[in-house]
Amino acid sequence: MDTIAMIINKDKNKLKFPRGFLWGAATSSHQVEGGTKNQWSEWEKENANKLVKLAEAKWQDWQKNKFPEMFNPQNYISGQACDHYNRYEEDFNIAKELGHNVHRFSIEWSRVEPEEGKFDEKEIEHYRNVIKALRERGMEPFVTLWHWTNPLWLEEKGGCESKKFSFYFSRYAKFVAENLKDDVKFWITINEPTSVIASAYMQNSWPPQKKSLIAAWKLYRSFARAHIEAYKAIHSVSKKSKVGFANILHSFKSYHKITWMDDVSIFFARYFTNRRMLNLTHGYNDFLTVQYYFHNRFKFPRKIRLNDKPVNDLNWEMYPHGIYRILKHLKQHKLPIYITENGLADAGDSKREKFIKDHLKWIHKAISEGVDVRGYFYWSLLDNFEWDKGFWPRFGLVEINYDTLERKIRPSAWKYAEICKSNELKYDY
Ligand code: FCB
Repeated sequence: MDTIAMIINKDKNKLKFPRGFLWGAATSSHQVEGGTKNQWSEWEKENANKLVKLAEAKWQDWQKNKFPEMFNPQNYISGQACDHYNRYEEDFNIAKELGHNVHRFSIEWSRVEPEEGKFDEKEIEHYRNVIKALRERGMEPFVTLWHWTNPLWLEEKGGCESKKFSFYFSRYAKFVAENLKDDVKFWITINEPTSVIASAYMQNSWPPQKKSLIAAWKLYRSFARAHIEAYKAIHSVSKKSKVGFANILHSFKSYHKITWMDDVSIFFARYFTNRRMLNLTHGYNDFLTVQYYFHNRFKFPRKIRLNDKPVNDLNWEMYPHGIYRILKHLKQHKLPIYITENGLADAGDSKREKFIKDHLKWIHKAISEGVDVRGYFYWSLLDNFEWDKGFWPRFGLVEINYDTLERKIRPSAWKYAEICKSNELKYDY
């Protein structure tokens, strides 16, 4: 990597990134592949009508008017998604054209191990070809092993809550690593464990919709164990591997002028979202990750939204400065950091360019202050299936027409491509 001095440019409107910086985008199997059969696909079919009803209360009028698809049950069924399973070469051609030199995707556990202990060679061959396609196009693969979906046999045994979750997961991780180790260096074990704990076990909005603080509490340890076991398994088959987990990190701000009450809430929220998984996996990460979407304002005892703040189509506040504070805090771990997700839902593509540039400005500032950030993955390469919200939120650099499956590169993607290709951020505002 370059020394800090080398990235500080004389021209203030041009920010140079360290040599070898990785630029790309991320996806996950269930959200793009199509044709998956796992606990999510089953839950979607059972809950589509309920989700339509919930949409009425959940979203603001401007969102309901702009995205009437949210009232169609089909919106909530992943189905063929983007058919990326069959069109990955076409999609990687686009990523290459956009100057990406890295790509993050996930392996669908339910395809690779459709029955307990029985691995499907054809599916491993599929992912071998996916990786080959990336390498042929000059993109480094970052492989996620678990992006929230469980095979149905595991779900019957209690899913993530099964006492043997870490055993099952590390056995699968080992199998995949043994088969793909020659072409993969970077492995991400588990995607955002704390998002699953919060949304599936505290807020009741994702499968298995179990509101249980006890289950939530236990899951931290269970996910940490699964990560550590998989970390060891991958290293046992491939010494050159670099292994981490994908961590969602929120930024926080207190509302009142005298802040101590808000700060109490923030202390707990920050511990359970940002810190606990890091603590529990200490010593078993070759790199750290940042997945940044949320700026949480606290007015004791809970989170609030301020109406005058810029938001994306999901009404999530956009707060680029937050990523800088998160990165500065991670510096103490003295590990390389990859921003493995950062993005926004913006169907009109009117905010995406500025969003990316503003975040990169803050990331660059952190780098110039000694934080070892080595890559940025925009979420997502393609519009895709956004879990319990379905298809209407549009995160893609590439727009998908879900009727024809036609791909259309958005203007902001070309702006991001300029940065990827030059390794430099130019801005004029
Ligand atoms: C992240 C998830 C990813 C996507 C984005 C918007 O938390 O990892 O799958 O849903 O949010």
